[in-house]
Amino acid sequence: MHKDVKKILISEEEIVKRCEELGRQITADYEAKQEAPLLVGLLKGSVPFLAELIKHIDMDIMFDFMDVSSYEGTQSVGNIRVIKDLDSSINGVSILLVEDIVDTGRTLAEVKRMLLNKGAKEVKIVSLLDKPQRRVVDISADYVGFAVPNEFVIGYGLDFDQKYRNLPYVGVLKDELYE
Ligand code: IMP
Repeated sequence: MHKDVKKILISEEEIVKRCEELGRQITADYEAKQEAPLLVGLLKGSVPFLAELIKHIDMDIMFDFMDVSSYEGTQSVGNIRVIKDLDSSINGVSILLVEDIVDTGRTLAEVKRMLLNKGAKEVKIVSLLDKPQRRVVDISADYVGFAVPNEFVIGYGLDFDQKYRNLPYVGVLKDELYE
């Protein structure tokens, strides 16, 4: 375990197993609709999750990335700004947004609205983690890996001041790191 980590909440093994389940469910749902989604990962937090999840989606999907928000320290900010947009038109495309965590819900609500405005046929959401207690916007993910308590978490894409994204598990930092 990393020296700055107080405890591991979700192990790599549990994450991989959950990605297998989510992949199977996503495959079945989109097969039933007879269409393949464009996966859109929100940089940078979604990268490890997207990389694992796509291995378990058994259909010809494509993926792209968007970079939108800024997240200063441990407080989520309301306004989002597009730093990197999608590479091609999404008119009529079914999108599956891939996120690391739904916290207040502001980021996903804004991005979903933006993608629908650009002509996406539908926008569904898959998130590795969900912190339902923190929600301020009425939005929920269509597919959730794990619900987590109202604690700041790091690892598997999630950062604290851009660090710890590469940890292969989701954990909580030692209290002194936040001081
Ligand atoms: P929201 O707009 O408040 O839902 O925030 C979403 C973004 O905030 C996520 O994509 C993360 O980048 C960041 N975030 C929220 N909670 C945490 C956390 O516990 N650890 C690390 N990043 C977080």
